[in-house]
Amino acid sequence: MKTLETLGRIGESPEGMQRLAFTPADVEGRKYVTTLMTRAGLEVRVDPAGNIIGRVEGKEPGLSAIALGSHTDTVPSGGKYDGALGVLGAIECVQSLRDQSITTRRPIEVLDFTNEEGTRFRRWLYGSRAMAGVLESDDLTAVDDEGVTIGRRLEDVGGDISRIQEARRQKGDLCAYLELHIEQGPVLHQAGIPIGVVTAITGRIALEVSIIGFANHAGTTPMTNRRDALLTASRIIQAVNSIATHEEICRVGTVGMAKVSPNAENVIPGRVDLSVEFRDVELDRLHEAVHRLNGICQQLVLDKDFEIKVSELGVTKSAPMSPRLREIIEKASLGLGLNTTSLPSGAGHDAQSMAEITDVGMIFVPSVDGISHSPKEYSDPEACANGANVLLNSLLAIDGEGD
Ligand code: GLV
Ligand code: MN
Ligand code: MN
Repeated sequence: MKTLETLGRIGESPEGMQRLAFTPADVEGRKYVTTLMTRAGLEVRVDPAGNIIGRVEGKEPGLSAIALGSHTDTVPSGGKYDGALGVLGAIECVQSLRDQSITTRRPIEVLDFTNEEGTRFRRWLYGSRAMAGVLESDDLTAVDDEGVTIGRRLEDVGGDISRIQEARRQKGDLCAYLELHIEQGPVLHQAGIPIGVVTAITGRIALEVSIIGFANHAGTTPMTNRRDALLTASRIIQAVNSIATHEEICRVGTVGMAKVSPNAENVIPGRVDLSVEFRDVELDRLHEAVHRLNGICQQLVLDKDFEIKVSELGVTKSAPMSPRLREIIEKASLGLGLNTTSLPSGAGHDAQSMAEITDVGMIFVPSVDGISHSPKEYSDPEACANGANVLLNSLLAIDGEGD
């Protein structure tokens, strides 16, 4: 709790955590994580994708490592637990083993992934996708809202875009990846169950929709002659919501960002750029949602003299958790007297990238009132400690398995 509290002060503001990837606060948070890793006896390096990797060797040579991790960047006005619990909980496990002079058979690696949230560049799971070797060419040339390239930003966290391929880990390099995380939804809190065993992580399609109308005088342009991009954007926002609610095409749909130009009270908006995301475990449903959205946009273009561009920014496949690790997490929880339930994750996680190269398992603990990506995000000390204990005992169980 002490380390969570300390990290939670880095990048804190009255509106919540502002530890966005690549900001000075993120760099400071990463420095703190590095200090904790070193104190726990981990040897620390930063890979070319900026991922912080702490490693402690095991006592049997030649065995692949067990990896534990998450991220320490936050969304704007975010909370103190999303990501942080998984990284600090993992370090605590290693510290705990050290305090008790326990050396595992296998090496242990603690991973703090770069830009999980994707707030910068709108490219999420950046570090874990680099590690899994699933970055796409656009990921390497991305430029952020301030006109700064990803290569330049990576330098700020010790990465190197020219060597990013070297961040890739091969299948068999790690024998498992475990991620402890707050649930970020209401299921565990409402049911009063301390541990969630994740079954699968949702898939997601991220898009940008640009509506180009015509900026004109708000006082003189008759209502009939307007090409108001914001008015059309509002119809698209309604449609995104409806695709997931009334039409039930996919599980959720969200417009989280809107950029209005020129954004002045006496000018009819000439252009609006919207972020749109759809999430579902079934990829087909995501494609169907995009198809429907395209159809609605085409109709809006026909009705009015507008240009609407829909661009796909990225598709993240859903990822099933390993049955073997689910069983291990379940047993570790019951062994600690903690009840469990199995549930899917509606949020995205680095574990879904890591599923490309190793078996992955996720442990959820309750989020009070199911609130996350908000300064009100809270998981109580007992919940956090329960999660870390399950993480530790799961790690030991994996270490005790046959080769
Ligand atoms: C990551 O936090 C997400 O958006 O699910
Ligand atoms: Mn997270
Ligand atoms: Mn998050």
